[in-house]
Amino acid sequence: MRLTGTPSWLSARRDTSSSRGVQRGGPRPLPQVWAFGGGKGGIGKTFLAANLGATVALAGRRVVLADLDLGGGNLHTCLGVRTGSRVNLLDYLDHRVEELEKVAIETAIPGMRLILGALSHPGAAETTRGQRIEMMRQIRALQADVVILDLSAGTGRQTLDFFLAASVRFMVTTPEPTAIENMYQFLRAAYYRRLAHALSGSPVREVLRAAMDQRNERGIRTPGDLLSEVEKIDSQEAARFKRVISEMRPRLIVNQVRDSDEVKLGFSLRGVCRKHLGVDLDYVGYVNFDDSVWRSVKDRQLLVQAFPQSDGAMYIRRIVKKLLEEGR
Ligand SMILES: Nc1ncnc2c1ncn2[C@@H]1O[C@H](COP(=O)(O)OP(=O)(O)OP(=O)(O)O)[C@@H](O)[C@H]1O
Ligand SMILES: [Mg+2]
Repeated sequence: MRLTGTPSWLSARRDTSSSRGVQRGGPRPLPQVWAFGGGKGGIGKTFLAANLGATVALAGRRVVLADLDLGGGNLHTCLGVRTGSRVNLLDYLDHRVEELEKVAIETAIPGMRLILGALSHPGAAETTRGQRIEMMRQIRALQADVVILDLSAGTGRQTLDFFLAASVRFMVTTPEPTAIENMYQFLRAAYYRRLAHALSGSPVREVLRAAMDQRNERGIRTPGDLLSEVEKIDSQEAARFKRVISEMRPRLIVNQVRDSDEVKLGFSLRGVCRKHLGVDLDYVGYVNFDDSVWRSVKDRQLLVQAFPQSDGAMYIRRIVKKLLEEGR
């Protein structure tokens, strides 16, 4: 189905030479990897991954959506893709297919492919860190301009590693206190995991390990406290620490907003994360609570296709426009 009322910047141009950064004769540029995390379940990570991905594809970029919710993948349902016996991530994890590129199947959206989740074995699809590193290497080698990773809820290592390995990291929350709390926990866990990897073998590693326990005896309660401790031990490591954190630059999307106060919530969350984590959140936008969303999910359709004129679809296009303009 064609989008009606498509704004000019979104008119699809399936011309790969004009896709972001594609140059004739030069080395193939790496795709951008966008990950959707956020801690709480049911807040719209999958809905946003699917609809932002489709919007990017409709703007003429090659997109691969990857369902990395290894315990409960349902990205295909948002797209109306029937799984049947089709190749999925489990085939890759079990070495029946060696290349992730070959697991990406076509979808009804031109230019958008899908890597189906490990569906036949939910729960059994645990990966080792080595597997995740190899998977990310292959993700970055996919024939795409943008690869979108739909992640599971929670702060498991698997989820955090995929989140941290992405080049654009989206944190999703709704305005509910429970979702905000889980988002904050997710960000804190990601922050410490990123530091643990970056500082492995460093003299300050012990302080970091102590800090991960919120009730540690050294009195380190916030990442700000941790940074002060690190500065006392090793100023060079403290500089590295600050650089690692500034590179994290998570993006925030507030989903299911119902009024202007909830729109402003994104700005207050920025302030809180800056103060308590020293992390700069980039508030990229919000999507309103819209009945068309659940109707589209119920009908196994993308919102941006089924209800292109809905407010929700409009807010999604606004976010994508901002992101694509930034990437120019
Ligand atoms: N903006 C919205 N307006 C109305 N309903 C929404 C909106 N966003 C999401 N929903 C509803 O929330 C449901 C859950 O969304 P989704 O499956 O994307 O959450 P999730 O964060 O991926 O959850 P999980 O962590 O369990 O995978 C959707 O099926 C939809 O009905
Ligand atoms: Mg999901």
